[in-house]
Amino acid sequence: MAHETRGNEMENSTTSNSATSKLLSPYSRPLIRNAWYCAAWADELGETLLARRILDWPILLYRTESGDPTALLDICPHKLAPMHLGRREGDNVVCGYHGLTFNQHGTCVRNPQGNQIIPPQAKLRSFPVVERFEVIWIWMGAPELAGPSQIADFSDIGAPDRKTVRGGHRVESNYMLMVENLMDLGHALFLHGQSAGTANVELAESKVFQENGAVMDQRLYRGIAAPFTFASYVNRHDEKVDFWTDITWRAPSLIQNYAGVSPPGQARDPASAIFQVGSHMLTPETQHTTHYFYAHSRNYALEDPEADAVYKTWQRKALKEEDSLMAEAIERNVPDASAMGVDMVMLSTDVSGFRVNRILDELAAAEQ
Ligand code: FES
Ligand SMILES: [Fe+2]
Repeated sequence: MAHETRGNEMENSTTSNSATSKLLSPYSRPLIRNAWYCAAWADELGETLLARRILDWPILLYRTESGDPTALLDICPHKLAPMHLGRREGDNVVCGYHGLTFNQHGTCVRNPQGNQIIPPQAKLRSFPVVERFEVIWIWMGAPELAGPSQIADFSDIGAPDRKTVRGGHRVESNYMLMVENLMDLGHALFLHGQSAGTANVELAESKVFQENGAVMDQRLYRGIAAPFTFASYVNRHDEKVDFWTDITWRAPSLIQNYAGVSPPGQARDPASAIFQVGSHMLTPETQHTTHYFYAHSRNYALEDPEADAVYKTWQRKALKEEDSLMAEAIERNVPDASAMGVDMVMLSTDVSGFRVNRILDELAAAEQ
């Protein structure tokens, strides 16, 4: 059952050391393997061999001729050649070094060398993959634990009653720096102060709660000027609105941000609200780098290319040039902070990030 906190829980946990906590470990915590991650956008995958490092393992991705997504370890078991340097042959992959050939399940089906005997251990590890919500989801942990029903509902992406603008880039930081960034929209007032148009605005309501393993952080601002992403689409430019951001995190690094505006007093009313759902999927490439996939799906101005451009600009400026640059700068600070024993302090608005880290500590411990 959901329960609510306004910071007391975290403060109680931290008052013993004056609201400080040695939380450098989130950025070096072992990566969680038993989870579904976004490996690629569905339209990135085709006939050609796509090499992508995921959770610090080299992965080879492609589609079979019938369109099924396939993920195999990108290491040939003969002399360890990267399989992506080889070529497709029907649904099979032929190693570019000596020609060992593997099918889409990773089974070796041909040895063109010498006696042509296939050693029984000649196989490529294969990984469960599912195509859903325009995403190729991959499971990097124990295959027997992979259930497609565990994939979070990202059905806003590409939904027919929404207009979706997608994007993605690589971030040179541990994925948790971006998770914490997305769970903590307090930073928007400062880091995005100019671009979001919400600087110096007071928070009217804020609550954090947990439900079925998810952490929710919901915030509401009353009677403010519409943030710039919505400003052109409210009836009058000088109109005051209620503005909310309802964030849901699911382990380890999937975040949805339902944000919208409505006439004052009608926050979250589907009849009068214009809103967008931000879908954020952070896939560790390594311990220190991240594949960041995102989509904004709006319920207004569906055919308006200018609205598309607003979100494209937001993705480039806020997500890439502001959030990711900050995460990368922090990543570079982590070794110095660790070496110099800097204690991280937490603020009352960090409750949701605190809960996320606590859940991930438990998940990581369970996998060790
Ligand atoms: S390294 Fe792949 S066949 Fe030799
Ligand atoms: Fe941000």
